[in-house]
Amino acid sequence: MIGSLMMCESVLVLLFGMLAGIAMGIEQNFTLAPAHVHLNLVGGVLLFLFGLYYRLVPAAGALLLAKIQGWLHIVGGILFPAGVAMVLLDGPSFEAAPIVGSLIVVIAMALFTIVVFRTSRA
Ligand code: HEM
Repeated sequence: MIGSLMMCESVLVLLFGMLAGIAMGIEQNFTLAPAHVHLNLVGGVLLFLFGLYYRLVPAAGALLLAKIQGWLHIVGGILFPAGVAMVLLDGPSFEAAPIVGSLIVVIAMALFTIVVFRTSRA
């Protein structure tokens, strides 16, 4: 089920994001803080919340739209912060990655909005 997959992916992302936060603190190098923030919040917390909704409202989790939304958010929620990190480390020539990643995430958010409006009374 897409909700379970999203929650499993989310805890792995959060574990990685926290370890990266600890590494930033140890090195006292906060260059990648914006990537850390977006990975934890978009790739981790939001993904978990969406997955939780699909588990709590099975009628929503069963929709094809939910599967499309879940996969888009999984891909975009990693591409976006990874792209932010690439731009911070290697310069603006990598700007396409965060732009595409953020657009994928926003499309996924729009799909989730439709799913919630369709199923919030289920
Ligand atoms: C072991 C866990 C974590 C560690 C060690 C850690 C460490 C850090 C560090 C070193 C910074 C940079 C601070 C600076 O720029 O001065 C930071 C920023 C931030 N982290 Fe984490 N982090 C952890 C978990 C999380 C989680 C789970 C989230 C969100 C769900 C999160 C959200 C943020 C945010 C929003 C900022 C930006 C704060 C700001 O710029 O004011 N962090 N974190």
